Amino acid sequence: MGGSYMLSKERIEEEIEFVYQKIIGNLTTFETLVPAAVSTDYVYPAVENADWTDGFWIGMLHLAQSYRPDERIQKVITKQLAVFSNRLDKEIVLNHHDIGFLYSLSAVADYRENKTVSSREMALRAAKVLMRRYNENAGIFQAWGDVTDKEQQGRMIIDCNMNLPLLYFASNETGDPMYRKAAESHVKLAQKYLIREDFSTFHTYYMDIQTGKPRFGATAQGFSDDSCWARGQAWGIYGFPISFTHIGDTTLLDAACHLADYYLAHLPADKIAYWDLFFQSGAEERDTSASAITVCGLLELAKHLPLTDGKKQRYEAAAEEIILGLMESYTTRNYPESNGLLVQGVYSKPNGNGVNECTAWGDYFYFEALTRLHRSWSTYW
Ligand code: GLY
Repeated sequence: MGGSYMLSKERIEEEIEFVYQKIIGNLTTFETLVPAAVSTDYVYPAVENADWTDGFWIGMLHLAQSYRPDERIQKVITKQLAVFSNRLDKEIVLNHHDIGFLYSLSAVADYRENKTVSSREMALRAAKVLMRRYNENAGIFQAWGDVTDKEQQGRMIIDCNMNLPLLYFASNETGDPMYRKAAESHVKLAQKYLIREDFSTFHTYYMDIQTGKPRFGATAQGFSDDSCWARGQAWGIYGFPISFTHIGDTTLLDAACHLADYYLAHLPADKIAYWDLFFQSGAEERDTSASAITVCGLLELAKHLPLTDGKKQRYEAAAEEIILGLMESYTTRNYPESNGLLVQGVYSKPNGNGVNECTAWGDYFYFEALTRLHRSWSTYW
């Protein structure tokens, strides 16, 4: 990847306008309902708020509102927040670790943008529910399944890096270190066991919940147990620097640099990753959502590297090159009937789910990446 900067402010603004208008066009469809996790033929059906992905729409609304306030957007944010609050009250499909994704982009984002007291309370309640998944013996948050489920006990996944910010928020707001301590324990074990010696990553890893000892790594959404699922690597590139911003452990930045180097070294010519980094050419599908997440991660990572570190400029240039690739060849501009943003995302190839579709998270991180390139942005994470 080169060291020059390719993107003008005008070009970024033009793209943000495309995103913004798409969001405005979706306000009526997704007033209290949300886009499904993935599109069908590039069109998201409107569904009830009950999936791990349902924070991404309100996250985009917050980004849109911070770009150019519009009372129509605010009205939908308010309605969506009520749905999130109800979901928490009734604990509708919250028996998983993605409570962090859900409530960081809804409640925390609203509190950060608007200082809404009820959103702060909602975020703190959500953090308490997430804490139930922390296993003291193993020192990690169990990703999936009920905490009594023997098959899932002790299993952490790389995606969880993005659920930890809700816990840092809770400690910062309440002064109670319990949340931060658990998040720190988790991220350090993720660093130790999810990252392999060559700086590729396991998607998931099992800890022994009796002894706290490591067991083995395995994939769920990647090509094989020993391949590198592209989006998992992206969650690492972004998630480790985010934990660094909260706990100041510089080895997390080093880890993210290694993960970024591995990712960048395993891209095809147009820099848009295949769904598993095992593939670098051929007919397999890309995963544009991994690209969008990686751009956010590279930009966050570069922010914390000193000017004297050559990697800083290299990661910024790589981030621009990737987003330029997305802008030029992977948006829905050529699909006017689409209500999504990025085409050619992959949810889970092994399950045949959401293959070559728009993804709710890919769209969110595309907008976040553009926002980061456009202006100095106060993170929701
Ligand atoms: N966090 C789930 C996924 O990335 O598919």
